[in-house]
Amino acid sequence: MEEAPATPRCKVLPVPLRFLTAGESHGPGLTVVVDGLPAGLGIDRAVIDGDLRRRQGGYGRGGRMKIETDTADITAGVRHGLTLGSPVSLSIKNRDHESWKDVMSPDPQPDEARARRALKYPRPGHADLAGALKYLTSDLRNVLERASARETTARVAAGALARLLLRACGVEVRSHVLRIAGAAVADGALPWEALDGVEESPVRCGDAAAGTAMMAAIDEAKKAGDSLGGVFEVVVRGLPPGLGSFAQWDRRLDGRLAQAVMSIHSVKAVAVGAGFAAGTTPGSAFHDEILFDDAHGLHRGSNHAGGLEGGVTNGEEVRVQGVAKPIPTLVTPLRSLDLRSKEPQSASFERSDTCVVPAAGVVGEAMVAWVLADALMEKLGGDSMTEVLDHLEASRARWKEMLERPAPRDARPVPVD
Ligand SMILES: Cc1cc2nc3c(=O)[nH]c(=O)nc-3n(C[C@H](O)[C@H](O)[C@H](O)COP(=O)(O)O)c2cc1C
Repeated sequence: MEEAPATPRCKVLPVPLRFLTAGESHGPGLTVVVDGLPAGLGIDRAVIDGDLRRRQGGYGRGGRMKIETDTADITAGVRHGLTLGSPVSLSIKNRDHESWKDVMSPDPQPDEARARRALKYPRPGHADLAGALKYLTSDLRNVLERASARETTARVAAGALARLLLRACGVEVRSHVLRIAGAAVADGALPWEALDGVEESPVRCGDAAAGTAMMAAIDEAKKAGDSLGGVFEVVVRGLPPGLGSFAQWDRRLDGRLAQAVMSIHSVKAVAVGAGFAAGTTPGSAFHDEILFDDAHGLHRGSNHAGGLEGGVTNGEEVRVQGVAKPIPTLVTPLRSLDLRSKEPQSASFERSDTCVVPAAGVVGEAMVAWVLADALMEKLGGDSMTEVLDHLEASRARWKEMLERPAPRDARPVPVD
């Protein structure tokens, strides 16, 4: 019987990577603890801080972004530029905390401190009312401080670590804005190369004419005291096939990506690949034909599936879109009420943005990078980057071997001696 080549044994964990964030919007800062990263991963602070900066930018952001210049302090898990295999802890200061010290103090304070920044009239669309009912409080500050999208700063820091892991394995993650209200990219599926200049566009759009129309729409909304939503897309290149699984519902990668993107503040719909067009396009035009030639190897005629079939990566670019609603805090507020007296009131206003779709795209990148890094570790395993990269190389050799054989060899039982 033919000898099976030695394949590294992978460590299969139910949750290879995980992270937890803590911190309030106007508290001292945000903390994220990332667990499960292999030892020996190079940590480039410029990548983490660069992603934090991109999250703060984008046409349509408000005053706070000018106060905050986020940078992450690494407080555990990294030594001399490399991960140790222990939990990595990052902390990001809230620079405007100085003027909120007594309001956000963990220690009891005079009533005046609580009243000074009280938010009394819940904003439709924000977590204010739902949170007040959940925690039985009419002090909406207790709700919004954590419900605020300031928390996404910590996610972006965690996502930057995932991005570094993916990059070490030859995988790159980008995002771009497809739509802001009525202004949209004409051809939704912009190729990877069209995204080269996205960071130079104030709305992070790969199509100059659409970008100009998006900025005009934001200007108009700002003038009217209104807000706008839109659609961003995350695109991932270089992923190996076979990540995720159809064996159980909770291991399907499309489902895991959807959950992660849907969990971003203001995201109300998620699509993979051509998404909603699946409901209106016949199968003959929707499905991506399977082709093979010497120049390109195994490839597809199109990528409407967004790189995922059966909840498993198929080797094509992964494309995931998120639809962000218009943000709830409006300069021209909607009707609300005083929770105590039930008297009608205009919803409270807290310093706010007009449009956050470009920033939401950066958060989308972080969440997608996180889920894919988790799926990669699940597939490959390894306590150190040396092992991870060995396992990746072995897997690549197996795919190549399978495709090059005239009759592919199926997975076989390992002989027991
Ligand atoms: C990057 C980012 C920044 C946001 N900034 C604001 C903001 O300034 N004002 C606001 O009302 N909502 C903002 N939001 C949206 C709210 O956080 C979100 O609507 C709210 O938490 C309720 O959650 P939901 O929309 O998912 O239901 C932002 C969202 C993101 C992704």
